[in-house]
Amino acid sequence: MIVLLTGGTGYIGSHVCVELLNSGHDVVIADNLSNSKIGVVERINKIAGNSSVVFRKLDLRDYESLELVFHEFQFDAVMHFAGYKAVGESVYCPLKYYENNVQGSINLLKAMLKYNVKRIVFSSSATVYGMSEDVPFHEYSPLNAVNPYGRTKFFIEEILRDFQTANKDVMVCILRYFNPVGAHKSGLIGEDPTGIPNNLMPFIVHVAAGEQKKLSIFGSDYSTPDGTCVRDYIHVADLALGHTLALEKHKQDSGCFVYNLGRGKGISVLQMVRTFQKVNGIMIDYEFSERREGDIAVSYAANTKAYSVLGWKPENTLEDMCRDSWRWYKNSKLMKL
Ligand code: NAD
Ligand code: UFG
Repeated sequence: MIVLLTGGTGYIGSHVCVELLNSGHDVVIADNLSNSKIGVVERINKIAGNSSVVFRKLDLRDYESLELVFHEFQFDAVMHFAGYKAVGESVYCPLKYYENNVQGSINLLKAMLKYNVKRIVFSSSATVYGMSEDVPFHEYSPLNAVNPYGRTKFFIEEILRDFQTANKDVMVCILRYFNPVGAHKSGLIGEDPTGIPNNLMPFIVHVAAGEQKKLSIFGSDYSTPDGTCVRDYIHVADLALGHTLALEKHKQDSGCFVYNLGRGKGISVLQMVRTFQKVNGIMIDYEFSERREGDIAVSYAANTKAYSVLGWKPENTLEDMCRDSWRWYKNSKLMKL
C-alpha cells in the first residue's frame, strides 16, 4: 500500500514509518516540521535499509498544499499523527490547539473524500477517558476529556465517526495510546522534546544527563501502592506495530474501529525511577512536590480487544523502555541533534 503519514517525522510517526517500510509498504510523510527535524527522514531510511521514504513539507491547515500531495500520489491509506500535544499549553492557547488539531483533521478528511482515499488510522489518546476512577479503561468506557488537548482528540473522534456514517465505504481506525516511551533499538530515532520536558520519561532522561538537577515527583499521597501516580507505559516500537496490524486487519473493511494501545500494566512514578536507575546504573535525584493539576491517580488500559482482534502483543518490558530511552538520548547527543 502507499500510505500517507501526516506528522510522520514526529516521535510516534517516525517509528510507525519504519514499521510500515519493513512490512513492504511505501510511505509518504507530510509534516510541517513544527516539532520535528528533517534529519529524521535520513535516519528512517538508514534503519529501513533498501526502502526510501518520500517527504513533503506542508501544513495541514493549508488545504491547497495538502491537496497537492493527494494529487501527486494515489494513497491507499492515511495515518494521521500531525497535531500539537502539550496538555498544559492547550489550556492557555486553546484556539491554537483547535485550529491545528481539529481544522487540520477536517482538511485531511476533505482531501481524502475528494481523492477517494478510504482508510484512515488516527492517533487518539487515553486522555479522552478523563478523570474517571473506573480503571482499567475499556474502549466503551465513558469519554470525559478534561483539557483542550484532550477535547481536540474527542472532537476529532466524533468527526471521524460522522464522516464514516456519511461515507459508508470508509474505514476509520481510532487508536487510543496510553503513555508512549522508549525509542528505536538502533538509537537513531526517538522522542526529541524541545526545551524542558513535560513528560516523565524525557524528564528522567534529562536528570540522568545532568541537564536538570532533580525530578519533581508530582504527589506522594495518591491512593496507590506507593502514593505516586500509576500509568500504563508502552514502548513506542510496540505502539508502531499496533498500527501496521490495525491497517492489515481492517484493509478490506468499512466501519469505525477503536482500540486501546497500552500494556494493561500500571507502573508508578517511583517504580519507573527505580527501574531506570537499575537498568542504566545512574542515580536519579528526585523530590516529592505538590500534585500536578489535572493528573489522575491511576490510568491503565484494558487491552484485550487489541490482543484478540489484532493479535497485538507488546513485547518490550519496562526495562527495555528505560534502556532504549537512555540509549537514544546519548546517541542523539553524539549525533549532535
Ligand atoms: P510529535 O510532536 O513528535 O509529532 C507530531 C508531528 O506533527 C510533528 O512532527 C509536527 O511537526 C507535526 N505537525 C504538527 N502540526 C502539524 C500541521 N499542522 N501540519 C503538518 N504537520 C504538523 O508527537 P507524537 O508524540 O509523535 O504524537 C503523534 C500523535 O499521537 C499526536 O497526534 C499526539 O497527540 C498523539 N498522542 C501522543 C502521545 C504521546 O504521549 N506522545 C500520547 C497520546 C496520543
Ligand atoms: N510526572 C512527575 N514528574 C514529572 C513529569 C511527570 O511526577 O516531571 C508524573 C505525572 O504526575 C504523572 C506521570 O508522571 O503521574 C506521567 O506523566 P506524563 O506527563 O509523562 O504523562 P501523562 O499521563 O500526564 O500524559 C501523557 C501525555 C498525554 C496523553 C496521556 C495518555 O502527556 O498527552 O499520556 O496517553 F494524553
